[in-house]
Amino acid sequence: MENIRIGFIGGGRIIQALLDGLNEADYLDKMHIWISCPSAEDDKSLLKRFNNTIHMTTSNTVLCNNCDIVLFAVKAKLIKSVCQEIIKTVDHERLKNILFISIIPGLTISTLNQWLQTGENIIRIMYNVNVAKRNGSYAISSPKTNDNNPLQIYLKSIFDKVAYFAGNVTETELDIMCALIGSGPAFFCTAVEGLADGAVKAGLSRQLANTLAARTMLGCADILVSSSKHPAELKNDISTPAGTTIYGLHELENKGVRGAYMDALMSAFNRAQTMADQLAKETK
Ligand SMILES: NC(=O)c1ccc[n+]([C@@H]2O[C@H](COP(=O)([O-])OP(=O)(O)OC[C@H]3O[C@@H](n4cnc5c(N)ncnc54)[C@H](OP(=O)(O)O)[C@@H]3O)[C@@H](O)[C@H]2O)c1
Repeated sequence: MENIRIGFIGGGRIIQALLDGLNEADYLDKMHIWISCPSAEDDKSLLKRFNNTIHMTTSNTVLCNNCDIVLFAVKAKLIKSVCQEIIKTVDHERLKNILFISIIPGLTISTLNQWLQTGENIIRIMYNVNVAKRNGSYAISSPKTNDNNPLQIYLKSIFDKVAYFAGNVTETELDIMCALIGSGPAFFCTAVEGLADGAVKAGLSRQLANTLAARTMLGCADILVSSSKHPAELKNDISTPAGTTIYGLHELENKGVRGAYMDALMSAFNRAQTMADQLAKETK
């Protein structure tokens, strides 16, 4: 397992978050990692940041010829052309032995398979930027035949170092998780920002307001995760009759904040499904 080589096509924010987490877990130097991206020749910042523990190339072909697992981490609009490029330049038998992973919202296994024509060696993973601090969440969607695939077992062991495993789920559930865990950090940031802005308006310094809003969210999340309490229970626990919190909660209810979060999640989920439909049409 230790010799398995893993390649990332695209080395942007979400891959760097994963590498940061693995680095923090002291695991990066035990891995064989390749990254391909157009700026690999000119921009050596990733190599410096990870102490030359990774191989970088501008060629997706070179990456596929050197890796057992290949994870697509480019923007959705580029994925079809990347697949067309590698099926033209990499030997078909070699491609069939690679485990391909997509982290692209909405891109289904079936669409990817139509582009790669390699059989059942394709799985999807959804994870979030919280892996950078080893506090991420992830889920897998894969054909049953892959369950005992040593490459998938290895991949899971890597993600387990930096994220909570939510299970092997259907592709629709994965798109819901894309909205919940993939977009969730951005949604929560609006709550932190809004509360901090309120504190600044009331007179607190910006720095203290931002830090305290974020730390309050962190501590609250810790209680919810470790106690399995329903959020309403924690909310009720700290709402004294006629006290300050219930006055604030009344404002949130008046403004429909919970409905707004539900709409945000549904909108992100629907967007993933629309992207899936658009990408599937590109196979025709
Ligand atoms: N951000 C998230 O929380 C998150 C979570 C789950 C999934 N995703 C998905 O992951 C994908 C990447 O997201 P990101 O935020 O990391 O994007 P990003 O920061 O924009 O990075 C995109 C990467 O793709 C590279 N690239 C561009 N054209 C390429 C090509 N032809 N071949 C190989 N690499 C190429 C870019 O390289 P250069 O810089 O050299 O151009 C860059 O490293 C997206 O589809 C996104 O939806 C993101």
